[in-house]
Amino acid sequence: MPGIVIVGAQWGDEGKGKIVDLLAEHAEMVMRFQGGNNAGHTIIRDGTKWAFHLIPSGILSPGILCAIGNGVVIDPKVLTGELDGLRARGIDVSGLRVSANAHVIMPYHMLLDHAGEVSLGKLQIGTTRRGIGPAYADKASRLGIRVQDLLDEKILKKKIVAAMEPKRLSLRPFAKSPELDLQRMTEDYVTYGHRIEQYIADTARLCWDVLDRDGTVVFEGAQATLLDIDHGTYPFVTSSNPVAGAACTGAGVGPKDISEVWGVAKAYATRVGAGPFPTEMDDELGDQLREAGGEYGTTTGRARRVGWIDLVGLRYAARINALDYLAITKLDVLSGLGELNVCTRYRGPGEATFDTYPYHQTVMHSASGEYERVPGWDEDISDVRDIADLPQAARDYLAFIADFVGVPVGMVGVGPGSDQIAWTDEGRASIAARTAAVA
Ligand code: GDP
Ligand code: IMO
Ligand code: MG
Repeated sequence: MPGIVIVGAQWGDEGKGKIVDLLAEHAEMVMRFQGGNNAGHTIIRDGTKWAFHLIPSGILSPGILCAIGNGVVIDPKVLTGELDGLRARGIDVSGLRVSANAHVIMPYHMLLDHAGEVSLGKLQIGTTRRGIGPAYADKASRLGIRVQDLLDEKILKKKIVAAMEPKRLSLRPFAKSPELDLQRMTEDYVTYGHRIEQYIADTARLCWDVLDRDGTVVFEGAQATLLDIDHGTYPFVTSSNPVAGAACTGAGVGPKDISEVWGVAKAYATRVGAGPFPTEMDDELGDQLREAGGEYGTTTGRARRVGWIDLVGLRYAARINALDYLAITKLDVLSGLGELNVCTRYRGPGEATFDTYPYHQTVMHSASGEYERVPGWDEDISDVRDIADLPQAARDYLAFIADFVGVPVGMVGVGPGSDQIAWTDEGRASIAARTAAVA
């Protein structure tokens, strides 16, 4: 019954897609369990780039089942666009399954996301404006439209009317917007329903079937721990739970179905959108890091804010997700940067210091990192495939992280390519035990 959960341990864009793609080769199923097309997961295989927003990052592995679970919010225009794009590139998408219970992002959700940000002005969250928050809000209000509703025009129309009624006032500025026309919206969404009908399924049951015959399921997280609506830097968060526990509710399995949890973290830190970022670098070195790491969003193209690795945040993520292993990505980006800063505590308002993640918003907003300086390295490490072959300073850097966080490093990313991974013996052995094999 091996269920392996992959979650982001920072603020997103840690390289989850690449790790999922890697593990998918040895799994029977990959399941996305939360978020929507606010996610952008990049995979580079044999020099070819793929970017996924809704379709699980396992789809490039032939014969695999790839499910979009009930916890995901789906923009069917994006989903059908992604499907068309994959087909046009010769990818077999017959393994895709879409939960009938997943909620659907409607045109009014996108308009409300946009309007909400505009009205917040300087206080805006910096959302991806994909309608994620309003769609989850409707789900909680029991006014959501689900994938199964797209298959019945009469029911769909009734539900759209019910969902739009309480939003009348906020939607008034968009009254003339053609996409809000009831008839047109219903027809468009029924058409999407027909286009994805062959993929609609009871994804939880499919997942149980795989687990019950001892097959491997990889649960693919989107966003990340510090963007979690309960445990992140609220209100500068997304509207779902990207932590490992949410794999259960978002896929429909129990906690005992999860055998292992991997947290993906960059060797430094990035954040896109507003909100506290204690280790942020607002200097030339930060610009250098942004360029070296290509830190521009997969979904919105926005420049990502960059900073030093934050071990206070990472230790918090390790606990909240009960991480078994860390996958540290983009270690190659730190080559040649000189001495490195590692944040081991925060300084808050006044002279207060914090060794653990502060729950108070005011504290988080004024927190800045306190650092230990550690030696850097100049060598190009992009061809390294075994941790033992890394420069001593890079190995020491990883050991520092693992010791402080209390979680072993299982693999390290040394470049964007899917083969650019250096495993530790422990990480390789653990994954091999849970899957058929890892080369
Ligand atoms: P995700 O949202 O967590 O899947 O991450 P993104 O795909 O949004 O962003 C990660 C970026 O880093 C992508 O452009 C990847 O191709 C790239 N990447 C992943 N791992 C590595 C690595 O180890 N080194 C380098 N240089 N780039 C990497
Ligand atoms: P992946 O899966 C990084 C951020 C947005 C914004 C906040 C809320 O690629 O790691 P939302 O549109 O979700 O309401 O925006 O969350 N955000 C992400 N940042 N990576 C992501 O996904 C993100 N998804 C949302 O920038 O700050
Ligand atoms: Mg991303």
